[in-house]
Amino acid sequence: MANLNDPKRAEAALKAATRRVEFKNAEASRPAFDESITVQFTQPPEPDWVCGSGSNKTSAKASAGPTQHISIDPYAADRTLFDNYRLLVSGIVPRPIALVSTCSRDGKIENLAPFSFFQFVNVDPPVITLAVTSPISAAKDTLRNLLDTGECVINIVSEGFIEAVNASSANAPYGASEWDISGLTPVYDTKTVSPPRVKESIFSIEAKLESVRNFTSRLNPGTKSGSLQLVEAAHFWAREDVLTPDGKSLDISILRPVSRLGGISYGMTHVFDLQRPDFDLDVGGLEGYAKLKREREQKERSAA
Ligand SMILES: Cc1cc2nc3c(=O)[nH]c(=O)nc-3n(C[C@H](O)[C@H](O)[C@H](O)COP(=O)(O)O)c2cc1C
Repeated sequence: MANLNDPKRAEAALKAATRRVEFKNAEASRPAFDESITVQFTQPPEPDWVCGSGSNKTSAKASAGPTQHISIDPYAADRTLFDNYRLLVSGIVPRPIALVSTCSRDGKIENLAPFSFFQFVNVDPPVITLAVTSPISAAKDTLRNLLDTGECVINIVSEGFIEAVNASSANAPYGASEWDISGLTPVYDTKTVSPPRVKESIFSIEAKLESVRNFTSRLNPGTKSGSLQLVEAAHFWAREDVLTPDGKSLDISILRPVSRLGGISYGMTHVFDLQRPDFDLDVGGLEGYAKLKREREQKERSAA
């Protein structure tokens, strides 16, 4: 419980409690989570789509409202930094979630936190990015440990422990372990780094810090506002049952990944496959490309 003698913390605690009640009321009005939903493979929206066809039949449904684009200046006088944050986290979706395990240099303080500014960006060597939206001067615990030790374990997030992942994002003070808050299980068998991996995670990656890039705030020039960490994968852990028969890939119906969407939303996976187009087979080589280009120019002329 917040120290209610501190008026600012008391006010923040009251606001948070009000939001919690509103959230629980809204949640109660929704249907229960359907455990029977399996990862379903369907056809793509338009299986007979051919190169040059543009949007598919579902696009009409997605544009029921006004369809003019509004120009948005991120630095307009009436915009705040938080406005840009809300726009981008709801627009750049879905994002994978890394549940990052780190520890202090002496190994005594262990930390766990989710990060969705997370991506696999190079194959050889396998490089992954994480971005912590805190300046180094006020580093989140994950960044502080990562800079101290150069080590982390990235645990991929599945449906089966999503509430615990969410709980690990609590704004706990340094030293209060999110392993306790989440109830997740540390496993101390990592081969190349010190932090433990998360037992409940079906796929985990031991990684070492490759480089850090800090960003200078445009709103408050001269201050550092966030940082990007490139980490190199050093070892993998995959649960036996998730490997496809050839042992090379992970089966999405076992992995059941959860992604981060805008606001406080999470998403699950509906899957369809699309083959990568081949320039000769699907476009018709340079000749077919010239035809598509002509047709497009004609369409633009008649629309003008
Ligand atoms: C699903 C999810 C994704 C998040 N992604 C990020 C992120 O990419 N970058 C970030 O700085 N914070 C992110 N957060 C917030 C951090 O998890 C939160 O600030 C946490 O308290 C940091 O913990 P630490 O101080 O123990 O490192 C995310 C939170 C959630 C619930």
